[in-house]
Amino acid sequence: MKRIAWIGTGAGLLAAAALAGCSERSSPTFEYMPQMAYTPAHMAQEEGSMRTPVEGTVPRGFKPYPYKGMVEPTGGGLKNPLSRTKAVFEKGREYFNIYCMVCHGPYGEGNGTVVPKYPQPPTLQSDKVRNWADGRIYHVIHEGQNLMPSYASQIPERHRWEIIHYIRVLQRAKNPTAEDLKRLEKW
Ligand code: HEC
Repeated sequence: MKRIAWIGTGAGLLAAAALAGCSERSSPTFEYMPQMAYTPAHMAQEEGSMRTPVEGTVPRGFKPYPYKGMVEPTGGGLKNPLSRTKAVFEKGREYFNIYCMVCHGPYGEGNGTVVPKYPQPPTLQSDKVRNWADGRIYHVIHEGQNLMPSYASQIPERHRWEIIHYIRVLQRAKNPTAEDLKRLEKW
């Protein structure tokens, strides 16, 4: 019995020694395919690790903006595709209040809460903007204008057109048309 116990202890010690040897090894053992373990490291955005797109191609879903860099969109190609419905006005109000109101104010009069810490924008109730085509306002949202940054990356196309319909609502609330006034009389 005693003998078996001694053998057991001896085997245990041997195993422990073998394991300890592993952690003390100063040079790596045989490396299989080292070129896979040690690849040259690149930062994600570093030159050489980003693939340049093939010339003449655009990413999937990307729609180039044909009026980029222009003062205004030419040719009248930018038309509001949405009709003037209550649902569109309501969405427009929601997004105007999220994105535009801080600077332009609740009626677009340039009295948002960030003014005057931020320079006061011109009123959207001016004859100028009232006479602008919808596409011209769209252009400002897409490209920005002087101090106003571009909102192209924040606001999807559909919401921009909704916002523009809502700006028209604000303008007509302040400057009702003859037709609007007639309707008011009926109330
Ligand atoms: C950070 C503040 C800020 C926000 C937010 C902002 N604007 Fe402006 N906006 C300005 C300023 C400032 C100008 C004047 C730029 C200039 O000097 O030409 C301006 C100009 C404009 C003009 C042109 C007015 C004119 O008479 O030339 C339009 C149209 C307009 N903004 C629409 C919008 C709409 C729509 C939104 C929301 C999607 C919006 N803006 C969000 C600051 C802002």
